[in-house]
Order: sequence, then structure tokens, then C-alpha cells
Amino acid sequence: MNIAFFSAQSYDIEYFNANNQTHHISFLHHQLNEQTAILAKNCTAICVFVNDVVNKEVISILANQGIKLIALRCAGYNNVDVLAAKENNITIVRVPAYSPHAVAEHALALILTLNRKTHKAYNRVRDGNFALDKLIGFDLYKKVVGVVGTGKIGETFCKIMVGLGCQVIAYDVVENKNVIDMGVQYTSLQNLWQQSDIVSLHCPLNPQTKYLINEDSLALMKKGAMLINTSRGALINTKDAISALKKQHLGYLGIDVYEQEDKLFFKDFSETVIQDETILRLQSFPNVLITAHQAFFTHEAMTEIAQTTLQNINLFDQGAFLPNKVG
Ligand code: NAI
Repeated sequence: MNIAFFSAQSYDIEYFNANNQTHHISFLHHQLNEQTAILAKNCTAICVFVNDVVNKEVISILANQGIKLIALRCAGYNNVDVLAAKENNITIVRVPAYSPHAVAEHALALILTLNRKTHKAYNRVRDGNFALDKLIGFDLYKKVVGVVGTGKIGETFCKIMVGLGCQVIAYDVVENKNVIDMGVQYTSLQNLWQQSDIVSLHCPLNPQTKYLINEDSLALMKKGAMLINTSRGALINTKDAISALKKQHLGYLGIDVYEQEDKLFFKDFSETVIQDETILRLQSFPNVLITAHQAFFTHEAMTEIAQTTLQNINLFDQGAFLPNKVG
């Protein structure tokens, strides 16, 4: 099958080439959008990632070119108009789970870095400054950690935090028995905001969860609380988070995802003038840590992503049952 592979990075090419024996893949560095959809000409399938734009207009351009399959090489599909794809007889497949450990462990990395300030300590020591002032952190042991969304990643994260001796509380629309068996207590969202020293978001982005973190939920949080988001940027109203940081109510913010990341992440702007004032404001806080959607980025996860995506495409090609079909 001929596949147009959008937003290709060097590591995508490496892992997909290593696992592909069957298909002809055209690796395109362009992000998929209304202007670039035409590049899928002569292909039957496209392969896309988290920040590719797969809206109604793009789907219509793809359908007119004969695209039959959208293979997402990620779990979340909030960037795809599923209904429009269905109306145009285009099948969507995804990689529902590749490594919950990769994301859960990255959430822990954000927590430990913000807390123990290892990023600052590293630079200090390299600079010959061995002083400890302002590097003080807190024990995670016995702290209350609130987990929103206890699916595959949330469950793995709960296990890690229970292992560190934290008191873990959780909120989800569906309770997970494995999480209850670990000793985690489900509670209301309001109680979770009020009780937690650390809040970590692991639910999908959808109309119910958009701006889950806003002026009201932030006001309910403990003064000095830490907020971690490795899920999707728009779970947080960034302007409200900035306001809570300026008031010194929110104590720490660790984000691997950002509301307007599609214009920035996975690209190098180090030699240009960044126009996004919001990210620049976030970067200016000493208690904010930003990584550019790298939580998934481990060898194990990349291998699983490539293998499952190619397997999804093979099954579609064979007209077989698609266990990872969306919609
Ligand atoms: P999952 O589907 O296994 O779990 C999601 C959980 O969220 C489910 O238990 C679901 O019931 C719950 N949920 C749904 N609506 C909710 C609501 N309104 N309030 C609270 N909980 C709700 O998904 P998984 O694999 O754990 O992934 C979670 C999210 O992590 C994905 O949706 C994706 O956005 C993000 N992600 C981020 C990555 C990164 O590199 N930063 C990589 C992979 C996923």
C-alpha cells in the first residue's frame, strides 16, 4: 500500500523503516492541514500524529484523492473529525496503548525535577556553584496525589506513586478495580482539587474535559500545589494557570503538552523569534517546567507504535477485522 506519512521526524523514519517490509511509505516532514493534504496524492492511506489537522475540510480533500485509511500513530484522536471520516468512507485506526510506563514515568520525572530542582542543580554545579540555597524540595512520602483519569496511564502512575508511599486519590467517570485494589480512593473532583498536594491529569481531551483546569478548579486547589499535565494541552486553561502562578497560589506547573503546541512542538525555533506570548510567559516562571510532548518517547514505545501502526495497516489491506478501529 502507498502511505503518505505526515509530520515525519528522523526517529519516525528510523523506527518505521526498521519494522516495515511491506508498504511504500512516503515520509513527509509537513504537518497535515488544508494546504498539505494534496501531498497524499496517489496514496491509499495516510499516517498522522497528534498535531496533524484532520478536520472536515482536510478529510474532504483526502477523500477526493482516494484516501481510504487514516492510521494514527498515537492513542488520542481528538484532532480527527471522526464523523466526517465516516461520511467519506474513510477508516480510522490508532495505537490504543504503546507504553503506559513511558508516560507515567515522564509524569514522575516532571514531579521530581520541579520538586528537587535537579535542572537548576545541574547548571549550578557545572558553573562551579555548589551552594544549596533555594534548592529545597519536599518529601513525596505521605503527600496526597490526585489522579484524574485512571485508565492505562493513570493506573500505571497510581502504582508508581503508591510505591513512593504517597496517599493516592483519584477521579474517573469509570472506576478501575486494579486501582482500588492498590488502595487508591476514588473521590469527587472537588475533593480531589481540595485535598491534593500534587494533581496529575491522565484523562483524554473531549468536550467534557476541555479546560477542566480553570479559574474555579485552580482556586479550589491547595496553595502551593503542583499541577502536572502529560495528557493534552487544552485540559488546562493556560491563561488561568498563568494567573494562578502569578498570584503564587499554584506552586508548580509541569507540562508535557500545551494548548497551542501544534504551532511549536516537534520543531526547532532556537534561531527565530517566537511569537507565542503565552509560552514565553510560561517559560519565564522559575516553578514551571515544560517538555515538548516527549512523554511517549522511549525506545519501547516507539517500537510498539511502529509495529502496531503497520499491523493496523496490514489488517486493513487484508480486509480483516480491525481491533484498533476508531468510531
Ligand atoms: P485510557 O483510555 O486508557 O484512559 C483514559 C481514562 O480517562 C479512562 O479511564 C476514562 O474513563 C477516563 N476519563 C474519560 N473521561 C473522563 C472525565 N471526564 N473525567 C475523568 N476521567 C475521564 O487512555 P490512556 O492510554 O491512559 O491515555 C490517557 C491520555 O494520555 C490520552 O487520552 C492522551 O491524551 C494522553 N497521552 C499523552 C502522551 C504523551 O506523550 N504526552 C502519550 C499517550 C497518551
